[in-house]
Amino acid sequence: MLENLTEIEKAALEALGAVRDEAALEAWRVAFLGRSSPLMQVFAGLGGLSKEERPVVGQRANEVKKALEARLAAKSEELRAAALKRSLEEERLDVTLPGRHLPRGRLHPDTQMLRELYRVFGEMGFQVYRSREVESDEYNFQLLNFPVGHPARDMQDTYFVDADGKDADNPTVLRTHTSPGQIHAMREYSARDPQNPPPVRIILPGMVYRYEQTDARHEMQFDQLEGLAVGPGITFSNLKGTLTDMARRLFGPQARTRFRASFFPFTEPSAEFDIECFLCGGKGCAVCGGGWLEIGGSGMVHPVVLRNGGYDPKRYTGFAFGFGIQRIAMLKYHISDIRLFWQNDLRFLEQF
Ligand code: DAH
Repeated sequence: MLENLTEIEKAALEALGAVRDEAALEAWRVAFLGRSSPLMQVFAGLGGLSKEERPVVGQRANEVKKALEARLAAKSEELRAAALKRSLEEERLDVTLPGRHLPRGRLHPDTQMLRELYRVFGEMGFQVYRSREVESDEYNFQLLNFPVGHPARDMQDTYFVDADGKDADNPTVLRTHTSPGQIHAMREYSARDPQNPPPVRIILPGMVYRYEQTDARHEMQFDQLEGLAVGPGITFSNLKGTLTDMARRLFGPQARTRFRASFFPFTEPSAEFDIECFLCGGKGCAVCGGGWLEIGGSGMVHPVVLRNGGYDPKRYTGFAFGFGIQRIAMLKYHISDIRLFWQNDLRFLEQF
């Protein structure tokens, strides 16, 4: 019996020498210390031994069991340490390897242009006023002095939103210009003190929508910047001064502006304004043709519009202007096609 135990111990220790990982160690434990291992069978057979043999064999079996358990614990610890060492070596950070490139985002050229204009007009005391993109016909046209059926509506190809024939004379539209914001703003300001409405000096940025046949110069959606100043004694020279100052702040102190008589229902008199071409200095080039770049529309706010906004045209006057942001960005960055702005082509966007 005692020899048998020595054999068991020897076999176990030999087998342990070949164990290289946790799984093999567990298999070893089951084989040599598990319920049906030879060692446990010795314990089970103790009852059948003689009185003299029993304590001797029992003691020896216990020794063997303790010894094997101690080796098991030591081996387990050894394996854990080896695994840790291996992982530290294999996963060591090599700080000399090149990093993974994280692409940096940037602002859309249109947003950059808008922000530059906010700065320019902010310096002149204009506040940004935001207004809705989905409008009623009333705000987009009627209150701006385009009555139903007025031919000037033809200047603005419009998306009408079909509302089941309801509101036939006041359908919902995607705003065709930022000018309806003038009415919202004037009504909000004048409501603060209807007898003595406060002066207004705001810019109204935002997306506008037109049912366009798109080409290099026309998109069905684009950003506009509208300006509105209302107060006692505001004159056309204030308008010219403001827009000329804008041109100088954007394009340099030599920039000149030009005003050409025009028509808009919501201004009287009305003018289109041009900035002298900064590419050719006004000599005339492929971009401008005759030396001037057409920027937008402007004029003195029509008395009907002032009244619709809650301002008495006998006491108040005002000027307004509006132009496309992309138009200015195209001039500034020499962009040849307006459709590039919303195509989300990184080759274009990454240039700004
Ligand atoms: N709303 C006009 C358009 O989109 C632009 C415009 C012209 C705005 C004259 C104005 C203005 O405020 O006074 O075509």
